This record gives sequence, structure tokens and C-alpha cells, in this order.
Amino acid sequence: MRIDILTVLPEMFESPLNCSILKRAQDKGLAEIHVHNLRDYTINKHRKVDDYPFGGEAGMVMSVQPIDACISKLKSERTYDEIIFMTPDGETFDQPMANSLSLLENVIILCGHYKGVDYRVREHFITKEISIGDYVLTGGELPALCVTDALVRLIPGVIGDEQSALSDSFQDNLLAPPVYTRPADYNGWKVPDILLSGHEAKIAEWRYEQAMERTKRLRPDLLK
Ligand code: ADE
Repeated sequence: MRIDILTVLPEMFESPLNCSILKRAQDKGLAEIHVHNLRDYTINKHRKVDDYPFGGEAGMVMSVQPIDACISKLKSERTYDEIIFMTPDGETFDQPMANSLSLLENVIILCGHYKGVDYRVREHFITKEISIGDYVLTGGELPALCVTDALVRLIPGVIGDEQSALSDSFQDNLLAPPVYTRPADYNGWKVPDILLSGHEAKIAEWRYEQAMERTKRLRPDLLK
């Protein structure tokens, strides 16, 4: 999978894309992630990527020109399955959406900033608008990183233990059951006996019951 991220703040991606699973996925050649600085695509002297809004509102609006230049260049090089815009008024991101997007070959993610982007970008380039939740962040960079992380970890081979991405919370509309590691007794805090029993079927049953109980208690909306 290839992800092209368009942003006015490329520095925000340096460390997250160079650690842990996201780094490993790129090192293994399973994911290609390219960050494009929209300022590099401007044609004005001051590399300005925004301008005042028509109609006299407060704040600045991202201009069409650098976004058009960057997206058009990328589209001339390969076909994109989706051109995503990160925005609080988009469709709410969830695990089923992550699962289906992780199957795509080439994706562009545009990060909004300031007051927003000139609406013509959304009308003419964007194929999908995604929000990571009902709260407003300073820009689309952190949301783009959330989406990138959620997609890349689902690519087969990225997570060592294939099983572990499938047993995540939400993957079957249930919260994950509790997990424990050594020691089995930490100053009197004991790991449930069943997990030490070696009885695989009973352990699976216990995990399911725990997942169900936690979901009913903490996220009953998932069971509807
Ligand atoms: N940009 C600002 N807030 C956002 C959000 N909640 N989701 C996606 N993009 C955003």
C-alpha cells in the first residue's frame, strides 16, 4: 500500500512515521508513505499556501493552487483509489472503515489547516472525507496519522503475530478481553487461574465471556 500525505506541516510526521510498526512496515516494503510539503507546490514568491476568505470571515483558507499542483502530479504518476480529506465534518472513522481502506493500493490523504480548505478542492478532488471524532483539532495532521497507523497495521505481514490485529477491540464489535503477563502473582495480585490451566477451549470461552461482559458494561452501544 502507498499513502501520500499532503500537509503544510511535514515536520509533524517525522517521528511518528519513523518508529515502531509504521517504521517496520516501511522497512519491510509493505507500506510506502510519502509526505509532501504543500509549500513546495506553490507558485507565489512567499510560498504562501493560504489566503483570506471571500465574504469577510475570520481566519485563513487553504488555496486550491498548491493542492491542485500536488494532487495532479501524483495522479499523473499512478491511479489513486481514494483521495481523502481529514475534516471534523467527515464520516466518523471506525474499524470497519479502517479494514476496507487497508485493502487499497494507493491513497492520498490531505490534511486541512487554518479555517479549512477552499471548498472547490473538496468538490473536485476529494473522494472521501474522514473525521476521527466529534472534536476539533488544530489541523488534519494528527488525524491523518491515526488513519495511517490504523490502516498500515492491518496490512498482512506488518504485525508479527497475524492473530493480534484480528483480536483487537472492535474487530468483532467487542472490546478486547483483559491480558496478563508474568509474574502470575504480583504481591498477591493474581492472574485468573483459567489462563494458567493450559486448557485452550476453556481459555477461549473465558476470553469471549470477558469481552462480552466488558462490552456490555463499557460500550453497550456496540452490541446494538
Ligand atoms: N481536523 C481537525 N479536527 C479533525 C477531526 N476531528 N477529524 C479529522 N480531521 C480534523
